Amino acid sequence: MSKMQELMARGTALLGSEYAILGGAMSWISERHLVSALSNAGAFGVIACGAMPPELLDKEIAATKAMTAKPFGVNLITMHPQLDELIDICGKHQVSHVVLAGGLPPTGSIDRIKGHGAKVLCFAPALALAKKLMRSGVDGIIIEGMEAGGHIGPVSTSVLAQEILPAIADDVPVFVAGGIATGEMIAAYLEMGAAGVQLGTAFVCATECIAHPAFKKMFLRGNARDAIASVQIDPRLPVIPVRALKNAGTDAFNTKQREVAQKLDEGTIDMGEAQLEIEHFWAGALRRAVIDGDVENGSVMAGQSVGMVKAEEPVADIVARLVREAEAALLR
Ligand SMILES: Cc1cc2nc3c(=O)[nH]c(=O)nc-3n(C[C@H](O)[C@H](O)[C@H](O)COP(=O)(O)O)c2cc1C
Repeated sequence: MSKMQELMARGTALLGSEYAILGGAMSWISERHLVSALSNAGAFGVIACGAMPPELLDKEIAATKAMTAKPFGVNLITMHPQLDELIDICGKHQVSHVVLAGGLPPTGSIDRIKGHGAKVLCFAPALALAKKLMRSGVDGIIIEGMEAGGHIGPVSTSVLAQEILPAIADDVPVFVAGGIATGEMIAAYLEMGAAGVQLGTAFVCATECIAHPAFKKMFLRGNARDAIASVQIDPRLPVIPVRALKNAGTDAFNTKQREVAQKLDEGTIDMGEAQLEIEHFWAGALRRAVIDGDVENGSVMAGQSVGMVKAEEPVADIVARLVREAEAALLR
């Protein structure tokens, strides 16, 4: 057993995969093709349910199963109005792992998943919440820093890792996410006590990934500094930060916020209407970019590691490189 396999042992035991490398669920992107390719390559693919209704998730799980005999997971967003039905669809297919994202899971959902015999992984944005999740019986914790693509918290991966790993990594497998693009970085987090890692941005340009060619092209051209977190312009109008490549949509969003704030000042709309206008701005925007290829007005969610994505290549090659680099780093 290599040093890397030794350090990943608790992660691979939990996931049932060869490597404790999770392909982070990405809405519209992490569907049957990328997920099965990741699991077939020895990593662990996770379907992004996103806003899918139960019938579509049902189909996606069945289709993924037809493409891989290896274990994979399903990522569910806790705010989904049909969370219980989605959990039961996972149960119907005997999905082995469910990842809960987007805020603390509502009471009962962890037990409901475990009732189907599946393992539960949750995101912990801070140490106190990680401990609370452990008391609720989660099987694994993911910590994700603000370098990541998509919806992000305010703290960097390096700080979360230093704060959280020493405190809980002996008691529960912890997976580190956000800004990871090389095996050297994977080795470092494993040595700090992580049981595994989760990468999203690094897999977007995989050959098997169905993202539109224009979306991939933007990744291949993008640098770390182009992957910017959305900013809140008015204290009255909350904006959940999303990291994405800057484009015309990013500018339009800032203009929109200023316009809405002005309408509030003038009293032509009330606070509820104003907040809805801001919330709805990005509705459907990720789909527009990923599926339709409108990378100017859509949301090209990407992490800061995007600058290290240099070529379109098969998932198996990306995974093999990460493993090779991690093993070499641990030997040094
Ligand atoms: C385009 C895109 C879409 C994402 N969508 C989701 C999602 O639907 N649910 C989720 O839990 N995380 C989502 N994420 C976060 C990833 O699962 C993963 O944690 C993150 O990409 C890891 O950081 P990295 O991008 O620096 O590798 C998304 C990330 C990207 C880049």
